[in-house]
Amino acid sequence: MTEELSLLAPDDWHLHFRDGQMLQQTVPATARCFQRAVVMPNLVPPVTTGAMAQAYRARILAARPEGSTFEPLMTLFLTNQTTPDDIVQAKAMGVVAAKLYPAGATTNSSAAVQSVAALQPVFETMQAQGMLLLVHGEVTQAHIDIFDREKAFIDTHLTQIVDRNPGLKVVLEHITTSDAVDFVLQASDRVAATVTPQHLLLNRNDLLVGGIRPHNFCLPVLKRNTHQRALQAAVASGTAKIFLGTDSAPHEKAKKENACGCAGCYSAWSAIELYAQVFEDLGALDKLEAFASHSGADFYGLPRNRHSIRLVKDSWQVPDDIALSNGESLVPFFAGQAVRWRLA
Ligand code: DOR
Ligand code: ZN
Repeated sequence: MTEELSLLAPDDWHLHFRDGQMLQQTVPATARCFQRAVVMPNLVPPVTTGAMAQAYRARILAARPEGSTFEPLMTLFLTNQTTPDDIVQAKAMGVVAAKLYPAGATTNSSAAVQSVAALQPVFETMQAQGMLLLVHGEVTQAHIDIFDREKAFIDTHLTQIVDRNPGLKVVLEHITTSDAVDFVLQASDRVAATVTPQHLLLNRNDLLVGGIRPHNFCLPVLKRNTHQRALQAAVASGTAKIFLGTDSAPHEKAKKENACGCAGCYSAWSAIELYAQVFEDLGALDKLEAFASHSGADFYGLPRNRHSIRLVKDSWQVPDDIALSNGESLVPFFAGQAVRWRLA
């Protein structure tokens, strides 16, 4: 039995740090093991220009623990007002990717994209600039069942984006269905996906059976177990097209345990450990390093990290909550539950 794992330092290709005081909590949690992270732009107001991204990056860097070399990779929030020139400027300011949220799909996305087709000139500029397109793949029409929204997005929008822009690198973020797995695996090598720990570990029973579990509520919502198994099989296959993206997304406890609870799982304190647990349970520990530390960097065209981290087989319990400096608290993902692997 494996008792210890050495991994090239992993990167988190999708997360939410938020802003202000929250950075004092979220940045150290991720920097403890991840060398880089792709930082989502759904702040209030959203990060819509290179200058906003640069200023946000400086606030994140200021929240790094002493001596940390952690590097945030910044993203732009697309709207129907985004211009090709915004893309050129953002790229020149170090922004690596732009995020497409369909308007209203998730947290702080009301200002996002109403018409995907109208963004075609922006996609063409992104392709020319070598900027990646990161996609929240869910339609938002009221008549489409929430469990079908990912597949509907793939069928109505993503297929077209990919077909019309063969040189554009596209990441379908936080995939949740066998439909997404099938789409990504059959697409060209310009198309990849991230997958979260919760979508590998859980299915919709973990959200709804025995009472509503608000801390397992995220978007796209957890799906039925057949989809969970398709995600597990995909990562266990060792495909380079699906890599680590936690979607760690903190919301204060009172906003999760609420009559209208926010979507998001704050997984930064346990994510790498839980991915290790999933891969071990799948008999695929030998595929963990490529998933966590090679495939994302390779897809983004960035160098792989040089140093390593160590995980040891030593069970610990995720805390029930985490105090914030404003007197509020966060309930971390997997709160109160045992995790088999510990970061050494
Ligand atoms: O669960 C989610 N939380 N999904 C998202 O797409 C956004 C995120 C957030 O920002 O809270
Ligand atoms: Zn996200």
